Amino acid sequence: MREHLEALTEELRRLKAEGTTQVYVTDETLTKLRSVMKAQGPVAEPAPEATAETFSAAEEPAEMAQPVRATRAKTAASTGPGLRWDGKPIAPIPTPPEIKLPKGSKEEKMAWLRERVLNCPVSKEHVRLGRQLVFGVGTPQAEIFFCGEGPGAEEEQQGEPFVGPAGQLLTKIIQAMGLSREKVYIGNVMKWRPEMPTEWGNREPTPEEIAFSLPFLRAQLEIVQPKVIVALGNTAVNGLLGADPERKMKDIRGSWQTFDGVPLMFTYHPSYLLRNSALSVKRQVWEHMLLVMEKVGMPISEKQKAFFMKA
Ligand code: URA
Repeated sequence: MREHLEALTEELRRLKAEGTTQVYVTDETLTKLRSVMKAQGPVAEPAPEATAETFSAAEEPAEMAQPVRATRAKTAASTGPGLRWDGKPIAPIPTPPEIKLPKGSKEEKMAWLRERVLNCPVSKEHVRLGRQLVFGVGTPQAEIFFCGEGPGAEEEQQGEPFVGPAGQLLTKIIQAMGLSREKVYIGNVMKWRPEMPTEWGNREPTPEEIAFSLPFLRAQLEIVQPKVIVALGNTAVNGLLGADPERKMKDIRGSWQTFDGVPLMFTYHPSYLLRNSALSVKRQVWEHMLLVMEKVGMPISEKQKAFFMKA
């Protein structure tokens, strides 16, 4: 087994030397690696930092991802508040803030809220030194509000949502709709990247972390008043609609839900698409986007209608 680990470390070093800054690691692989590392004792060097794409169990269909999700939930619960990368306990999450928006234009309100979020002492406490909280991007005049789970490595470095590989795919989807990042609004449930006990990887946010962050998202939605919300992935939809153990993701994916009276379309997270490139899954997401375009009254060309159809 040690030879395998050495070979893996060697390959990662080679990739790093070639300039690769991201590797895709599934939850299954991470779990296996952790158990191997436990059995082998400490390794000399930490694995390179993974990216938004390891932010993944939440992005899988819940019906498929259940075992992984259960393991993760147990881990979070059994470590109490949990540990950060530096071995310190994760600071407890207080009761959610109350946000009362000031009067003014959408732009003024959004600027106020941005300052409020970026200066929130609780949120700031959870951000690694040199990294950033991630507020949101786009126009407060948007008709479509894309909502994801939370920042990954690239996002907390750049302070902007969806800028890593999953974000680049989201940008392509938005462009395929005939829009741009500037013409929509993109936000997340979480404003900080949930801390991990390792230097790398991502985890699902806890219910307390989600509850604390939700008022900020609600306020963003209150300002934008979009015609449609697109919930990207399970954490986003559970955050917005409230966790419900009875909810079957496959039953609500692609069908209209509502959040505070606003039509909400739930689709796969783009990082799921990165790991599952089946044409049928791409088509499903695209059909969800066609429904969104129709709902907001956008023109849809014949070419657009045919995207990701079998040849
Ligand atoms: N995944 C998310 O859910 N949000 C981001 O901003 C990046 C990746």
